[in-house]
Amino acid sequence: MRVTRLMLAAGMGVLLAGCSDFSSPGHAAKFSDVQQVFKTDCAGCHDNNAGHLNLIPDFYTDMDSASLVASGYINPENPDQSIVILKPRLAAPHGGGRIESFGSDDANVLRNWIARQPRDYSYVLRAEKIDQASAPVVDGKADEQAWSLASPTTFPIGGGWADADRAVLRAAYDGEYIYLVMQWKDDKASDRRQPWVKQSDGSWKTAPAKPLPYDGYTWGPTSDAEKSANAYEDKVALMWNTYGANTVAGFDRSGCAVTCHDPSNNFRPGKTYFYSNENRAAKKYTNAPGEIADIWHWKFVRMNQHYKLDDQYVQFWEPNTGSPKDGGRASDEGSGGYADNIATNGKPTYRSKGSITAPPFYILNNEKQLLTAQELAGLPVGAMIPNMITAGPTGKRADVDARGNHDPLTGMWTLEIRRKMVTGDDKDVQFDNLLREYVFGVAVFDNAQIEHSYSTTPIRLVFPR
Ligand code: HEC
Repeated sequence: MRVTRLMLAAGMGVLLAGCSDFSSPGHAAKFSDVQQVFKTDCAGCHDNNAGHLNLIPDFYTDMDSASLVASGYINPENPDQSIVILKPRLAAPHGGGRIESFGSDDANVLRNWIARQPRDYSYVLRAEKIDQASAPVVDGKADEQAWSLASPTTFPIGGGWADADRAVLRAAYDGEYIYLVMQWKDDKASDRRQPWVKQSDGSWKTAPAKPLPYDGYTWGPTSDAEKSANAYEDKVALMWNTYGANTVAGFDRSGCAVTCHDPSNNFRPGKTYFYSNENRAAKKYTNAPGEIADIWHWKFVRMNQHYKLDDQYVQFWEPNTGSPKDGGRASDEGSGGYADNIATNGKPTYRSKGSITAPPFYILNNEKQLLTAQELAGLPVGAMIPNMITAGPTGKRADVDARGNHDPLTGMWTLEIRRKMVTGDDKDVQFDNLLREYVFGVAVFDNAQIEHSYSTTPIRLVFPR
């Protein structure tokens, strides 16, 4: 192995002497050189990916070049920022620690090859054509054959509170429905959405989603310790451009960022809190009247038990008008099917038929019962009662089926989604032209009301024939 590495280093010397532009064709490392580096320095821990169908596709040393390009572990725009270079140098956290045998010659081999890979401005997700008989069941388990046929697209997410730094999507369609499955890492499922908590003096209070941030503070990543004290639910949002009359200009190039506006940043993307004056807080809205982006907003506590996500959208809005709390966020026609467990004399009003206290942190609407004074008095300090009463969404708000399932062993969420290809609702993206590329972005909310991690690069859904 040492001989091979020396030979490679010598080869690099020639290359460096003869050519100052690493990205020009004809001079860079071959993929077999890259594989040799992986074999020598990485195979001890990453030698194969056998049997990992339901996991985020890991880095493995016998990956072919196409899989490596699609993996998200390389960054042709800025090769030094590639995860395959950052991790072994411990410039990013790495389970294997610093790989001493991975020297600058090895990094050069990777860098040169990576610099020559396509600099796409987006990730591509290919929908697998399936027949209705093999359609996946929307149960949060990606165990159907359709999912082993559909090729995964891994894309990086960041900038928010999620544990995950990437997520994986697969897509399939059978003509009537489109199916998606998304998987991402999260150490635990967060379900304590602002429950009622009994205080030491016997009174009741609802737990806050998070400590109140001061005005003008900009949110960013937070520590696990800080996050674990928060009382919110895990969520996911997929934002789609709609095409035709309502299309959002710039979305296909820049993704969700075109809908993100922070007054403290000249209305460009930003993350400023301003709870005392919502007009000064960062908001989501489109940039011209009529522009609509479709939002598929999965909410673990409020909707998962009904096998639905919340079909919403983002529309045009102007600062200092209308409801500054929501900005341009709005919901499709119909009802969300959830409501707070309101206070009666400062105490929660309802309990569930099955149990008084949480978990679960929701009460099914058709099983709610009035709490008696006796029941409330009998509970110990710290007891929690759900603060959400749910019946599932209705009308056009219920167009999207979804079910998430968190596996504590792998620390992985799996979210399965199904929607009619065509709904006819002008607030929805319509998959009615399979020659079109449908652009969307993804956000992961990890125990977070708004502090989501997101994909900065748009993802293009295509329907290969
Ligand atoms: C001593 C064992 C060990 C060696 C050697 C090692 N790694 Fe890793 N690597 C890990 C572990 C454990 C993880 C999972 C935790 C994490 O994401 O850091 C990991 C994760 C990764 C990931 C993220 C994707 C994934 O599979 O989770 C990349 C990319 C990666 N390593 C690259 C490399 C490269 C490139 C080399 C060789 C130059 C290398 N590693 C050598 C142990 C190792």
